[in-house]
Amino acid sequence: ENILVETRAGTGEGALSYGWITLNRPKALNALNDALMDELGAALRAFDADDGIACIVVTGSEKAFAAGADISMMSTFDYAQAYRGNLISRNWDTLREVRKPVIAAVAGFALGGGCELAMTCDLIIAADSAKFGQPEIKLGIIPGAGGTQRLPRSVGKSKAMDLALTARMMDAAEAERSGLVSRVVPAAELQAEADKAAQAMCGFSLIALMAAKESVNRAYEAPLTEGLLFERRAFHALFATDDQKEGMQAFLQKRAPKFTHR
Ligand code: CAA
Repeated sequence: ENILVETRAGTGEGALSYGWITLNRPKALNALNDALMDELGAALRAFDADDGIACIVVTGSEKAFAAGADISMMSTFDYAQAYRGNLISRNWDTLREVRKPVIAAVAGFALGGGCELAMTCDLIIAADSAKFGQPEIKLGIIPGAGGTQRLPRSVGKSKAMDLALTARMMDAAEAERSGLVSRVVPAAELQAEADKAAQAMCGFSLIALMAAKESVNRAYEAPLTEGLLFERRAFHALFATDDQKEGMQAFLQKRAPKFTHR
């Protein structure tokens, strides 16, 4: 009801497919209510469990990726309801638990929980129309789904403070300059660019993709020495896969690899 879900085929022999999830509450600028988050969580879990899927794209509309948590849903909450219900926990952790790469393709507003949702994905591809912000301060609250934690890790303290304390929005160019997004494209090309990134992943070894994601994420959780050790162990482990043999043999034989994801 609140999202559209499709499976898109990867091109190329033996390529895996990818999941495409469109947030679809246009009248509320894709505000994230419980029903939407439940549907999103279920779709993500299903794609993650599907052996035929390499990665997942999450996107919104031209006007809004998502304008935040649904204000009408929580406007009457008191402390007990927020605390007991663990407000904003609902299916947010699901995204963190997905082991396959998740691409956020963002056009228009990505505010509050919308910005936090994009940041919880593994990489953000932005349309030149994208606007990012953590305007919760205007509502008498603060970000509650990672905005005060993930944003400074991406853009540094000063800019994160600027966005959280003044509620100003950051355009796509500034978001790219400050490292929040990986690439910016004209709005009309956003879908094609996200397709291209997903297609590239569909041609690789799923095991290597998952290991790369897991290892990059360690950089946010562990001190450098631990992170480097984790990376080294994961790197060594990949030599136990058929895909490593195939990838290297294919290179040496100057042919395209046929990964079996084993
Ligand atoms: N929750 C519920 N409804 C929302 C919404 C939200 N976060 N954002 C927009 N909408 C609704 C509006 O109420 C409006 O509905 P009606 O047509 O029924 O009046 C509809 O979407 C269109 O919005 P606008 O008329 O406001 O559109 P605009 O183009 O004039 O402005 C906007 C766009 C600047 C994004 C503005 O809608 C806005 O400021 N939205 C709220 C942004 C916000 O504060 N987000 C943070 C939410 S709190 C949060 O996310 C907590 C957390 O950390 C998880």
